[in-house]
Amino acid sequence: MPSSTRCEVSSASTFQEVSDLADINWDNIAFSPLPADFMYVAKSLEDGIFMKGELQRFGPIPMSPCAGILNYGQGLFEGMKAYRKADGSILLFRPEENALRMRIGAERMCMRAPTVEHFVDAVKQTVLANKRWVPPPGKGALYIRPLLMGSGPVLGLAPAPEYTFIIFASPVGNYFKEGLAPLNLIIDTEMHRAIPGGTGGIKAIGNYSPVLKAQAIAKNKGYSDVLYLDSVHKKYVEEVSSCNVFVVKDNIISTPEIKGTILPGITRKSVIEVARRQGFQVEERLVDVEELLSADEVFCTGTAVVVSPVGSITYLEKRVEYGNKGVGIVAQQLYSALTGIQTGLTKDTMGWTMVV
Ligand code: COI
Repeated sequence: MPSSTRCEVSSASTFQEVSDLADINWDNIAFSPLPADFMYVAKSLEDGIFMKGELQRFGPIPMSPCAGILNYGQGLFEGMKAYRKADGSILLFRPEENALRMRIGAERMCMRAPTVEHFVDAVKQTVLANKRWVPPPGKGALYIRPLLMGSGPVLGLAPAPEYTFIIFASPVGNYFKEGLAPLNLIIDTEMHRAIPGGTGGIKAIGNYSPVLKAQAIAKNKGYSDVLYLDSVHKKYVEEVSSCNVFVVKDNIISTPEIKGTILPGITRKSVIEVARRQGFQVEERLVDVEELLSADEVFCTGTAVVVSPVGSITYLEKRVEYGNKGVGIVAQQLYSALTGIQTGLTKDTMGWTMVV
């Protein structure tokens, strides 16, 4: 982060903007931490209600070594993006969906959570405070990372007595080093992402580090990422490490149904709605690995990955390549439709965007 920041928070709620854009090379932003100036912090009270939070300069947070998040992983996160339009205004995409998903996750994890209104207001405050970090149109997005964690002390296994809600932000470019080029995935036959009855269907912090090993092995072999099968039958498609998966066959789009082990992605849900609006038949159901391998197109969806085409999948030593070097027509069409709405290039007839 450049040392000379030109934004000041003069009190918990007043923010003074002095500059339009941060002084960085906007042509070269990766998906890695470049933390924006301010973060939002709110804590729960003893009755579980969240206090009004405040913007603080981005930096370390004090935390007891006994905190629930540190000892038992009691935490959730969200991922969202804000885009700058050509007229300078900034758009959020369906922020109330992230708020709701956090509340559902919190219920599963016995955590207190901010209300939808509190969450959305906090996201807006964070984006406004960090406005100069929202990339110019076409150069990326401001990635917003809301975190909810058990910050109060525990020793025996129990819900933490206090929760902290933090939002930080960072400008980002493409998630994969491939950029927009098709991904080369490998199916891991040993490791799984989620189990029935577990937490795969919520955005629990602890869902993500268990895939690091499979991901590291795959990356060492030159693959972009790992695709996981279900842990019971070991034959149904679940997810890629950080995103949902879709297959296209004869112009019918299918994606694994939400059944507790699949993350209910907001991009996934939006792509389904956009595709149906465009006249596609979209099925949410069990998708057999053989169907995946014989598909015309495969693509991934997620806030970070947006809509990423898959060029090849390797399963049991056999590599299947998808047509047109993996840049499928359906994925391209859905990418344009979705990002058009998110970036304000096309009219938002769905009512999904929110001006900050
Ligand atoms: C996102 O797509 O925003 C996520 O939360 C996935 C994360 C692993 C980057």
